[in-house]
Amino acid sequence: MTILVTGGAGFIGSNFVLDWLRASDEPVVTLDALTYAGNLENLASLDGDARHSFVKGDICDGALVAKLLAEHRPRALVHFAAESHVDRSISGPGAFMRTNIEGTYTLLEAARAYWSELDGAAKAAFRFHHVSTDEVYGSLGADDAPFDETKTYEPNSPYSASKAASDHLVRAWHHTYGLPVLTTNCSNNYGPLHFPEKLIPLMIVNALAGKPLPIYGDGQNVRDWLYVTDHASAIRAVLAGGQVGEVYNIGGWNEMTNLDIVHTVCALLDELRPDPAGSYKRLITYVKDRPGHDRRYAIDARKIERELGWRPAETFATGIRKTVQWYLANPDWVSRVQSGAYRDWVAQQYSA
Ligand code: NAD
Ligand code: TYD
Repeated sequence: MTILVTGGAGFIGSNFVLDWLRASDEPVVTLDALTYAGNLENLASLDGDARHSFVKGDICDGALVAKLLAEHRPRALVHFAAESHVDRSISGPGAFMRTNIEGTYTLLEAARAYWSELDGAAKAAFRFHHVSTDEVYGSLGADDAPFDETKTYEPNSPYSASKAASDHLVRAWHHTYGLPVLTTNCSNNYGPLHFPEKLIPLMIVNALAGKPLPIYGDGQNVRDWLYVTDHASAIRAVLAGGQVGEVYNIGGWNEMTNLDIVHTVCALLDELRPDPAGSYKRLITYVKDRPGHDRRYAIDARKIERELGWRPAETFATGIRKTVQWYLANPDWVSRVQSGAYRDWVAQQYSA
């Protein structure tokens, strides 16, 4: 048996691949285009490990995907590959439409052709697992109930609209063609190997460099944070026991405002790497808000707990400490991902 993982060199995909091969010997084939967000160094600990093979390629390349499916005969395709950063989707939505919509369509068609030729048992066992986000559900008011799986889709950013479109395609390929799909919609992840354009790693690396900690708007937007290996274990649980065609929401029961997140990161850095110049909180800077900034996301994760017995293993306190410790222990990883392209993005995004 083998699984094919798309986007396995990115933040969540690489944590998933590493976690998978810690938990089992079932081989993994990783397909990743190595965009700015993909980093083979994330998988370096698997160099020489016969259970893992890496293919550099684009999920929009149907011939390549078909060839990989024919060659490796996977029992599941776990689809992480995406353009994933909301701010980039605002300044340049095209890549999001291509990878997130066209790429998912290409994978679905290749998977359908492969699956329809499988024999009885292999055909029944095959799964297309689509990894999606809570952002497809839109924005909650302060007193609204968290998103459950019946929530209407109200995506507000080009990123969330492209992910919503991909979710709909996955649903349609199940209803129309019978493709055995699973979809998971997860809340914000954090942890090791997180590209420092997203809130938590950006705050850690900026603080350590003595740079401003840019808070959009009033800092009171709420996200529901989940440690990345808890996301990996949830996907394993859904792949193993999820009902075909069903959607499972994944979350950490951990809603926090952005300002509280940044204060927590600063307090940990003050403890673990004190700065003689004073608390890192002095670097907090309020900047112009993100256009269309969703106010609050929160996940109702009762279905996955009730049906599959999954719950997160980490609390925010344990997860954020591990995360800060990881960044402190891996300054070389940070400096290597801060390429010219990264510097250009930061200069453009925070110039005002
Ligand atoms: P990421 O941006 O860190 O990684 C994306 C990976 O996909 C990179 O390795 C990149 O090289 C690869 N990729 C991009 N375009 C590709 C293409 N055309 N062909 C092949 N590979 C391509 O993203 P992430 O944060 O790890 O997110 C992974 C998945 O999880 C995404 O589908 C995202 O929507 C979803 N998700 C993310 C979060 C979060 O908090 N980060 C939360 C819920 C769901
Ligand atoms: P982000 O990590 O981009 O995730 P998402 O927008 O997908 O939830 O941002 C998390 C929150 O942090 C979001 O409300 C925007 C905010 N934010 C800042 O205040 N400053 C920043 O520099 C960044 C990148 C995000």
